[in-house]
Amino acid sequence: MTSILFVCLGNICRSPTAEAVFRARAATAGLDVAIDSAGTGAWHVGAMPDERAQAAGMARGYDLTPIRARQVVADDYETFDLVLAMDHDNLATLKSRAPADRHGRIRLFLEFAPEAGLNAVPDPYYGGDDGFEEVLDLIESASDGLIAHLKS
Ligand code: 4NP
Repeated sequence: MTSILFVCLGNICRSPTAEAVFRARAATAGLDVAIDSAGTGAWHVGAMPDERAQAAGMARGYDLTPIRARQVVADDYETFDLVLAMDHDNLATLKSRAPADRHGRIRLFLEFAPEAGLNAVPDPYYGGDDGFEEVLDLIESASDGLIAHLKS
């Protein structure tokens, strides 16, 4: 079974959104995948997703409420086939912490949404509600691209 870890900074906005969106779409597509999310930072460990992320996700039918924030651990680079970073800062942090022979599995999630015209999911934490809609739009596109990649 393919396993995928989505990673952002806090694991309360972007990566839990990716976990919930990808879980829903992979199930619809009939893909057998293990899915999780984590943050490079530890500030929010144990917390539920940001209320704005929960509300924006729920409005599109994605339930983020079972998710609790955790930090990336060393085992994750061995366990997961793909470790997908939401932005360049998190990509660089992951690569700085992972053994060199695991760097190939650490990639930007938006590689799977070439049509989006962006290669990073902008951090919505300090912005308004529009930011959470953009996060969802980008993550839905990249989820569909990733599903097509995994099926091919
Ligand atoms: P996330 O958003 O990385 O998408 O979960 C953030 C959450 C918290 C913080 C920054 C970004 N923070 O600075 O606490």
